[in-house]
Amino acid sequence: RVVAVIMVGGPTKGTRFRPLSLNVPKPLFPLAGQPMVHHPILACRIIPNLVQVYLIGFYEEREFALYVSAISNELRIPVRYLREDKPHGSAGGLYNFKDYIMEDDPSHIVLLNCDVCSSFPLPDMLEAHKRYGGLGTLLVIKVSAESANQFGELVADPVTNELLHYTEKPETFVSDRINCGVYIFTPEIFTAIQGVFTQRKDTANMRRMNSFEALQSATKALPVDYVRLDQDILSPLAGKKQLYTYETLDFWEQIKTPGISIKCSALYLAQYRHTTPHLLASGDGTKSATIIGDVFIHPSAKVHPTAKIGPNVSISANARIGAGVRLISCIILDDVEIKENAVVIHSIVGWKSSIGKWSRVQAEGDYNAKLGITILGEAVAVEDEVVVVNSIVLPNKTLNVSFQDEIIL
Ligand code: GDD
Repeated sequence: RVVAVIMVGGPTKGTRFRPLSLNVPKPLFPLAGQPMVHHPILACRIIPNLVQVYLIGFYEEREFALYVSAISNELRIPVRYLREDKPHGSAGGLYNFKDYIMEDDPSHIVLLNCDVCSSFPLPDMLEAHKRYGGLGTLLVIKVSAESANQFGELVADPVTNELLHYTEKPETFVSDRINCGVYIFTPEIFTAIQGVFTQRKDTANMRRMNSFEALQSATKALPVDYVRLDQDILSPLAGKKQLYTYETLDFWEQIKTPGISIKCSALYLAQYRHTTPHLLASGDGTKSATIIGDVFIHPSAKVHPTAKIGPNVSISANARIGAGVRLISCIILDDVEIKENAVVIHSIVGWKSSIGKWSRVQAEGDYNAKLGITILGEAVAVEDEVVVVNSIVLPNKTLNVSFQDEIIL
């Protein structure tokens, strides 16, 4: 039996995702028309003998209630949200719900970060993990040497795939192989986490006995029940024949900023071609709009037949797209209205926003730059014939003049 656990974090973790995380938890932000967390959950569905999916986070329960009940019905596998009273770290959070996870007596636990975009090759990883016979297997990818320091860098044995060395976000270059935040563990992982708790308690007791040292290290000490999977578990277990790696050659991205979400939407839309082609719009040329490349249009959205849409466009529920509108590489959220002949390129248009006739909302499309995409927060109104370029607009603004390279507060 296999239990899947997806770490969804909490509100303080989503600050870089503003202004889009102001009214929806980041894990529920749509990529390719489906909540971010939906993609790893669908990937779990094909794991043989999967009995339960848990989402663990410190968001309010009600924020996930609707999603969790809808997805449980759809998958016919129970999906449940478990709320931490406070952050316990990526391993502490898992340990906190050990009793729930072990209820199903799993032989394996699949653990996923929710803020990664991947093809999640879980069945193949599970097979490899069984061959290795260790406590855990990490999904690994090769990235450019310049970007590696944003991640956990690691060295693995090229023959046995054993994890030999692990450093979390090192200051000096270690390796261009990085931790993807996707893991398979045996239930022994709980013993390893318990070991860190015990160590922490011992150190805390020693400090209490030695008050001079306590003064010195009080600022450095982490709470006893706060355990990070990377620094506290992976680093010390590397080179002990307990952890192994599985390298993917497929796509992988970390989703920390809204800009990257446009790129991830493109990756998931491309994946739909193989997995769920019925989710992609296909212009039939007569009564529907002109569709170019991969496009998702929610069934409740109304798109004028003279609009031209794509590639990489996702249009959410109840959006209205007017005559002659051109959309390229963008995410249009629920209840947006885009009026006649407006153009939207490399942008995210927030819930209930409106874009006036002949207006342009666009950016250069550099996903890593701060203003590389234009973002309109919730309920922003761009009036007719206004141009907004490389800008971020906070919720509830009305723009009646044009802007470029600005954050509009
Ligand atoms: N429930 C819960 N409670 N979730 C948490 C907590 C917590 O206290 N802390 C972090 N998380 C979740 C985050 O939402 C995220 O999905 C995952 O755990 C990892 O978050 P961080 O610990 O903040 O690490 P990171 O995202 O900066 O980096 C990790 O992931 C990278 C891959 O995306 C590291 O493991 C890196 O080594 C790795 O490359």
